[in-house]
Order: sequence, then structure tokens, then C-alpha cells
Amino acid sequence: MITLLIILLVLVVLVSVYFGVLLWFRDPDLNLRFDFAKLKAIPWRFGKDFLWGSATASHQIEGGCDNNNWFAFESAVDEQGKPRIKDGQKAGLACDSWNRYKEDTQLMKALSLNSYRFSVEWSKIEPKQGEFDQAALDHYDQVVDDLLANGIEPLVTLHHFSNPLWFEQQGAFLQDNSPQIFAQFCERVVQRLGSKVKLWCTINEPSIYAVFGYATAEFPPGEKDYKKAARAFRNMMLSHTAAYQVIKRIRPEAKVGMAVHIHFCDPLNPWNLFDVLVAHLLNKNMNDCHFPYLTKGHFSFSIPGMVNETYSGAEKNAFDFIGLNYYTHSYRKFQPSGSDHFPEVIKLPPDQLSDMGNEMYPAGLYRALKLITRYTSKPIYVLENGIADKADTRRARYIEEHLLVLNKAIADGMDIRGYQYWSLLDNFEWAKGFDMKFGLYKVDFDTQKRTLREGSRKYLEIIQKSKA
Ligand code: BGC
Repeated sequence: MITLLIILLVLVVLVSVYFGVLLWFRDPDLNLRFDFAKLKAIPWRFGKDFLWGSATASHQIEGGCDNNNWFAFESAVDEQGKPRIKDGQKAGLACDSWNRYKEDTQLMKALSLNSYRFSVEWSKIEPKQGEFDQAALDHYDQVVDDLLANGIEPLVTLHHFSNPLWFEQQGAFLQDNSPQIFAQFCERVVQRLGSKVKLWCTINEPSIYAVFGYATAEFPPGEKDYKKAARAFRNMMLSHTAAYQVIKRIRPEAKVGMAVHIHFCDPLNPWNLFDVLVAHLLNKNMNDCHFPYLTKGHFSFSIPGMVNETYSGAEKNAFDFIGLNYYTHSYRKFQPSGSDHFPEVIKLPPDQLSDMGNEMYPAGLYRALKLITRYTSKPIYVLENGIADKADTRRARYIEEHLLVLNKAIADGMDIRGYQYWSLLDNFEWAKGFDMKFGLYKVDFDTQKRTLREGSRKYLEIIQKSKA
């Protein structure tokens, strides 16, 4: 009898510990979904100063980026001799936006956009270390002038995945002096554009740059080493701070932030403790870890038995806003054997996914905003959100549902100042080449003709409604 009681007691304790740990680590918003009919009943809360825009990046649209890490990667092959980019595609002339920027400004105007997020190409501005190209700086000055003349607020990104070759060859952000090297470049840009540009995004998605470049090998330099990924990530966060300091020294009135990619990894089986722990680990390292760094100066990227990269003592609160890039979420499971211990599992059939294979999950935008507001009450700008949808059957719904969620977040008191749709144009989607069609405007890459997609009209409609 006593033995039975002891066994029962042990079982109760074990079950309690199991579920206690599970609930402790499981995201309570895991199953958040919205009823869009209800969200539609919330009055429109986007103020008149709200920034409606679209986003691009230099290497993806400009053309002629032939002195950077991506240019080199586009000609490289992996260990099996396969090209790094799908079907060996190269960015080449891309959308030729270097020459067609005035035409692009008019495309924004036609959609009633009042802001534009674009990046300056470091390899064009500083083609050799310490040598700055005045013509390249003149070019961006003209782009900014053209935007302002058309009532469009420029939001300039200083680093969006592309490095000058000289910097890449030195070891890029693996170098512990990379923050100083990057800040010197930022200084020149801000000296030149700072009287006109009020909003600056220092670095785009350090987590993606670092992990894709050094752990999953999808981005240059195409390595598979989590220790390097963690070091690059850490140094990019430090580079943000160095850039923030230099910008504020030159232009104290500037508003400076970084673009953080938030992608929730949710447990495939929410009652399996191992799936829950894997999801927690990934979210902590890829999402949450930006915020203790930004608010408290403490960085930590750690996977037991694999990597433990930390840094303490960076300047606290060295940011004026958080830039949020949000697209989707994914499901993960724990796999004890094999090379990938936390593979992604797709639950939906392909016809319900974007062309990138992603689930449309607008509630995740709310979860991402909530995550940010747990750490800071500073303003938030959504700096990227969009869908690859060649058939243009899902774009309108994607835009509408995400903006309904954003409206709810504002109604709930979150300080959200802008939304940049990714992307203005179809463009070079990194390792996937030109196959992914994110553009509000379709681009015919033979003729460079831009055509508004039907689905994009929803964006115009919402902007007009918010201004009415
Ligand atoms: C990047 C963009 C990219 C987009 C769509 C973001 O992670 O910042 O450059 O094109 O995702 O995949």
C-alpha cells in the first residue's frame, strides 16, 4: 500500500514538474488568432503623421553592385559545386533603380505613400577602405532631394546585408573592430545626408545576416559555424551602438533605430516539452536577445553544448525607436539525431502558403509588437512586412489583415508610427534570385517596365481611408 502511494506521489511530482516546466517555457500567446470581422469594427487609428511606405535595399534593386560580398557570392559554388543562388542567378542590373529612382518616386506617389525606406550601398560609397566616392554620395543626396520634393520622407538604412569586398575580405563583422570601421562609414553618410534625413536605420536584421551567413550558409560567406554566427551577431549589435553614437554626435535631433527580424518558432506539439524547449531556445536567441542588448547593454546568444557568446556593458538605451520586420512564424520540433536538431515543419498545404513557403500569420505581428513593448515603450516602426505572391491572389488579404492587426495594436495603446511594405518592386531576393515576387509593382526585367499589381490597390485603399 505504502509503495503504491509512493509511486503515485512520485508520478504526481513528475507530471507536475513536466507541465510546470512546459508552461513556464511555452509562449502563452502561442495560439493567438484574430477574428478579422471583429478587428474591422475597430475605428481606424492611424494618425495623420503615420508613415505609410515601402522598403527596398540597395543590392536588391539598384544594379551595378559589383564590389560587394553578394556579387562575389553570386559567382561562388557550395561544397557540392552547386551555385549559391537559385539557378545561378545574379543581381546584375536588378531593377536599375540607381538610374530610375525618379520613376520609382513617382510609383510611390501614385500609391499615396509618404515615406520610403531604402539602403545606401556601402561598397559604392567606400569602395576602398578610407576612400569615399563623392559621386556616390551625390547620388544618394539627389535621391533624398527627389523624395522630399515629392512629399516622401526618406528613412535610410546604413547596412542591409551587403558589405564592401574589402571589409568582407578582412572578416566583416567577425572582426572585433568592425563597429569602428562601420561607424566611420556612417559618419560620412550622415555628414552628407544628415541635414535632410531624419530617420536612420543602422543595421538590418543582424540575426538573419549572422545566422544565414555563418550557420545555415544561405548568405555570404556561406559558412556553417554557430560560434562565428554568434560573434558576427554580437559585433553587429555593437556596430549599431557605434553608429547610433556617431549619428547622434553629428545630428542630435536624428531618430535612430535598427531593424529587428521577429519570427516566432512555435512548438510543433505544444504538449511535448522538448518541442517547447527548442522553440524557446530559438526564440530567445533569434528574437528576444536584441532587446536586453538595446535596453540594458547585455548581449547573449547561447545554445547549450554549441555556443555561448555574451557581451556586457554596451551603452543602454542607445536607440530612439525599434524597427520591426515581421513576415511569418514557423513550427519546430526536437530531433535528437541527424544534423539539424530543430527542423522546421510545415503544417499547411502549399496552396495556403506564400511563394516563399511561409504561412500567413497576422496574429504574429501582434505577438511581435507585444514582445517589443515588454522591453521598451519607445516608438515602433514596422520596417518590413510583405508577401511573395507571383499569382497576386493573396497580397490584398495579407496587407489588409496585417494592417487590421496593426490598427488593433495602436488601439490597444502601442506607439506605432509607421508601416513599410516589403517591397516597392519585385527584386533580387537574395539566395532565391528573382523568382520571389514581393513587389507592389511587378517588374519586367527585360524591359524594366513597372506595373501596379491588382492586390496592391488594397494598400492604396487603406492609406486613403486612414487619411479621410
Ligand atoms: C530582408 C529583405 C528580404 C525580405 C524578404 C527580409 O528579411 O530584410 O531584404 O528581401 O526579408 O525575404
